[in-house]
Amino acid sequence: MPMSAIAELSPATAPEAPDPQLLRRCAERRARLARRMADAGGGVAVLPTAPERMRNRDADYPYRHDSYFYYLSGFVEPQSLLVLEVERDGSSRSTLLCRPRDPEREIWDGVRFGPEAAREAFGFDAAAPIEQLDELLARMLLDRGAIWWPFGVHEALGSRVQAWLQAGRAQARAGHTVPAAQHDLCAVLDEMRLFKDEHELQVMRRAAGISAEAHRRAMRAAGSGARADLREYHLEAELLHAFRHGGAQAPAYGSIVAAGANACILHYRAGNALLRRGSLCLIDAGCELDGYASDITRTFPVGGRFSGPQRELYEIVLEAQRVAIDAVRAGARFTDPHDAALRVLAQGLLDTGLIPRDIAPDVDAVLQSGAYRRFYMHRTSHWMGMDVHDCGDYAEPGEAARELPDGSRQPASRILRPGMVLTIEPGLYVRAAPDLPAAYHDIGIRIEDDVVVRAHGACEVLTAQAPKSVAEIEQVMHD
Ligand code: GLY
Ligand code: MN
Ligand code: MN
Repeated sequence: MPMSAIAELSPATAPEAPDPQLLRRCAERRARLARRMADAGGGVAVLPTAPERMRNRDADYPYRHDSYFYYLSGFVEPQSLLVLEVERDGSSRSTLLCRPRDPEREIWDGVRFGPEAAREAFGFDAAAPIEQLDELLARMLLDRGAIWWPFGVHEALGSRVQAWLQAGRAQARAGHTVPAAQHDLCAVLDEMRLFKDEHELQVMRRAAGISAEAHRRAMRAAGSGARADLREYHLEAELLHAFRHGGAQAPAYGSIVAAGANACILHYRAGNALLRRGSLCLIDAGCELDGYASDITRTFPVGGRFSGPQRELYEIVLEAQRVAIDAVRAGARFTDPHDAALRVLAQGLLDTGLIPRDIAPDVDAVLQSGAYRRFYMHRTSHWMGMDVHDCGDYAEPGEAARELPDGSRQPASRILRPGMVLTIEPGLYVRAAPDLPAAYHDIGIRIEDDVVVRAHGACEVLTAQAPKSVAEIEQVMHD
């Protein structure tokens, strides 16, 4: 091995050095994973990053690494794979497989670390060119009890595993064995990723701050001085500008910028529709920064003043969100914020006459009958982290499901614990219909923040800098 493979990379074009804090966390996570694997007898973990995907002909989609792989490696180059060999005592050896240096390809695609420099810079125990994958794995799996890999994530990985096992079996007469057990790596990693460490929270706070600024920017563009021909894509452009200007790499998901009735289409994307002064605009958009998502929704009036009916529904959703955020406490259940929000929404639907009292006389009747679902048809929360809809069980592990009167089983909702990050995103969506008061027709409102469960007291709202009260929004839109 050269004295320093990193030193051999040209300083002008060397890949960006990894953040030492991130690398320390990745090493800790590998050690923690190794302990969990050792508890189950050890074995070899195999974790590929995401494939590169073509968009059309020669144009590819922007590359995004696999979240599990990044969580354990901090490495973002495509065509990479991490192997962790774990002994029964919990000791382990990490090997990175990645693209070898290639001066010809690097002219076209950019500089690569190459195995040696990557090993040195990222602190793996060993590294090898990705071309050696099959040969290396067939050897590493010999005489091991188990292989661990992410089930159902990577197309064709299952058949690759079979091929490595077959190759190992060919050596049976030489006295070798192959793993008799396979374990799902996701089951362990999902649980680890569900609890964010301080480094992850720091990144998520920054991502949330950039996204909050993006929402402010979009509100200002749609404020009192808004151009008359303002369209959804203009606001999408404001968001993208703020994301990149703030240092984020990409949107964490396709931005929703929905004018008027479009807000009632839950998975609407920013399109061409005109933003009519006086109508509402719903924006659900968040950036991804250094591998972590943010997820914010705000709804505001184009031109900067809520009308009476818009404000009436907005205040109901805002109050639902307030009580839901207040319900995020260590020891509470994942479903508690949803249940809290539902009661406020149900009361609001009764007060506005959107649900007539002869259909459901009170809040309990609205909830039991499900009459609210016409106006609120999604859940209030999801886990958030590296993926906007992040991994992690929503059922409390080890707690029995409850049998319902109709014979179905309801899993016990997850108990909230410090370090979990979730969204709180109630809404009301009123599609125009002859049986509904005309004043509310085509109003769609959602308000979404990202929150962290703390050990004591109220949760931390990561996205608090995005204006939310009627007064704050109107002020930003008139600045
Ligand atoms: N933006 C996706 C979601 O709110 O769940
Ligand atoms: Mn969300
Ligand atoms: Mn969202």
